[in-house]
Amino acid sequence: MSITISVHSDTCIRCGRCAVVCPANILQQKEKKGDITVVGPRTCIRCGHCLDVCPTGSIEHSALEPSKFHVLDYTKLPTAEQLMELFHARRSNRSMQADRPIPAEAIAQIEEAARYAPTAANNLKVHTHYIDDRARLDRIIDFVIDTLTVAGEKMGVMAQFEFRHLRQVRQAGGDPIMRNGSGLLLFTSDTAWGEPDCNLAYQNASLMAEVLGISQVWMGYMYTAIRNADAEVVADLFETKEKICACMSLGIPAFRYPRYMER
Ligand SMILES: Cc1cc2nc3c(=O)[nH]c(=O)nc-3n(C[C@H](O)[C@H](O)[C@H](O)COP(=O)(O)O)c2cc1C
Ligand code: SF4
Ligand code: SF4
Repeated sequence: MSITISVHSDTCIRCGRCAVVCPANILQQKEKKGDITVVGPRTCIRCGHCLDVCPTGSIEHSALEPSKFHVLDYTKLPTAEQLMELFHARRSNRSMQADRPIPAEAIAQIEEAARYAPTAANNLKVHTHYIDDRARLDRIIDFVIDTLTVAGEKMGVMAQFEFRHLRQVRQAGGDPIMRNGSGLLLFTSDTAWGEPDCNLAYQNASLMAEVLGISQVWMGYMYTAIRNADAEVVADLFETKEKICACMSLGIPAFRYPRYMER
């Protein structure tokens, strides 16, 4: 789809801000206070920086819907102190309760937070998938343990010992994989930048979860199992053909921590 970008010269005050921020160098200002020229709009990454930054609303962009742009209120930002306290509070709290579902509204807020993370060249190709069906979660947990047991044969005695312990905990009725989370949020992407993009999205999501009083844990055992399993088995079980780059177990914690340890 071809892109048309135009600058209204009657309202433009030639401040040059759009030219300074455009990452693709499409909006150019040859001299200070000069007119803005549009060069090669087909390389536009649709990041929206030009419309976000323009103080006079002078830019029209055929691929960007004006109703999607909103005024920012910087007075609503948390203070550095408040934000730092959030970083202190965000822990992988494993006191999650399998029998307590997470409200759909909270999951929607967590997924929305993930969408505001940066993506390489603004590809916006990170997708989130929420699974809270108990039977399916149990199948996933068993798949992880079974896959690690087989993969462990090539990983040495320490790994074998660790994976045997997972099975013992599971056989005793525990959940050593999802740590009793009641939901699983997958971060998937089909681009070469999937790993960093998904994990930046993950971090946004984890901070939103924390302020909502929901605990999350990054699923390392699951990630390792997925990388050691047959791609078709993974696609069937997780119901996605995209690469799974991060998995988040989510649950309502039984308690929160009264302290944090300095790092
Ligand atoms: C993994 C990754 C790689 C990136 N690499 C570059 C880069 O090499 N040069 C650059 O100018 N921006 C880079 N970016 C920034 C993205 O283009 C930017 O995040 C995206 O356009 C969205 O804009 P925003 O961060 O303002 O939301 C990268 C972002 C990510 C997540
Ligand atoms: S949307 Fe981004 S890349 Fe496209 S013209 Fe505007 S600032 Fe440049
Ligand atoms: S940011 Fe807006 S007002 Fe400033 S030069 Fe660009 S189009 Fe003109």
